[in-house]
Amino acid sequence: MFHQHISSLFIVFYLYRWNGAAFEVRVPEKQVVAVHRSPAILGCTFTPPPTLQDTVVTWQTVADQRVLHSFYYGTDQLDRQSPEYKNRTSLYHKQLLSGNASLRLEGAGPRDTGKYLCSVSTSQGTDKAELQLSYAAFFTEPQLSILAHDSTYTLQYESEGYPEPEVRWTDALGKNLTHSTQVLQSDENPNLLKLLTYVVADTVKNLSWTLIVVNHPLGQVIERPVRLFYDDQRDHVDCSRERLALLCPVAFCVIGLIILFWGRTKC
Ligand SMILES: *[C@@H]1O[C@H](CO)[C@@H](O)[C@H](O)[C@H]1NC(C)=O
Ligand SMILES: *[C@@H]1O[C@H](CO)[C@@H](O)[C@H](O)[C@H]1NC(C)=O
Ligand SMILES: *[C@@H]1O[C@H](CO)[C@@H](O)[C@H](O)[C@H]1NC(C)=O
Ligand SMILES: *[C@@H]1O[C@H](CO)[C@@H](O)[C@H](O)[C@H]1NC(C)=O
Repeated sequence: MFHQHISSLFIVFYLYRWNGAAFEVRVPEKQVVAVHRSPAILGCTFTPPPTLQDTVVTWQTVADQRVLHSFYYGTDQLDRQSPEYKNRTSLYHKQLLSGNASLRLEGAGPRDTGKYLCSVSTSQGTDKAELQLSYAAFFTEPQLSILAHDSTYTLQYESEGYPEPEVRWTDALGKNLTHSTQVLQSDENPNLLKLLTYVVADTVKNLSWTLIVVNHPLGQVIERPVRLFYDDQRDHVDCSRERLALLCPVAFCVIGLIILFWGRTKC
């Protein structure tokens, strides 16, 4: 008798749990990449509430529970918002009633990288879900500089983006070349890195080399071929100069003879 009660209690409990699990908070993407100068959308959905009056939405950092944004009593509540998120966050208010608690985050940079927690509670239950935010910036068009020395050239490309990319230089046959690459903090923008990469061409001959920059989080691949031609026609120019030097005296003689002949016929 007692055992029967216990088991029916368990059944009731599990049914309750099962019903309770119907309230759910989910993140459609566990990994979100915030792109430089574009607003990032931290997606989060929950079981649509009957009303927004008892709906509480909170976005926080997982590591130290800093508040990015919170919403309750039917409106944004930002007095506990961490100062670094001021003016940078917003919810899609019109979509809250249909269960969309996604957060729009603007001005993302490297320091926003981390885990974020979306917590929602309504009259139907409480749940939370977390996602990982990372940050990336497309690399800008690489600027080429060529430094000519006596018998070598230094080819240098400069570009800005984030994070540190994979950099390769290949020759005409696709073989990897040794290169020097530096990644520094950008002077203009704290959210960007400055890439400086260079190779040295140590012989005076034709070359066809390619710089390859791969920005993995964004799937960005930049390939910039450089061709340097050694002008071996220079010898021919010298040769024709020599020919000119030979031709001139001949021409003078001919002209001289003509003048002479002219003078004679006049007399
Ligand atoms: C937020 O925006 C308001 C109004 O545009 C502005 O007065 C305030 O200085 C901004 N705060 C920050 C921290 O940017
Ligand atoms: C929630 O709203 C955001 C912003 O409008 C949108 O990008 C996203 O697709 C919405 N999610 C769902 C599940 O409707
Ligand atoms: C060149 O180096 C990259 C890694 O930096 C490697 O993945 C690739 O296989 C190398 N290619 C050749 C032809 O050695
Ligand atoms: C280098 O390129 C120039 C121009 O295309 C060509 O005339 C010359 O023959 C090439 N030299 C060598 C060594 O390949």
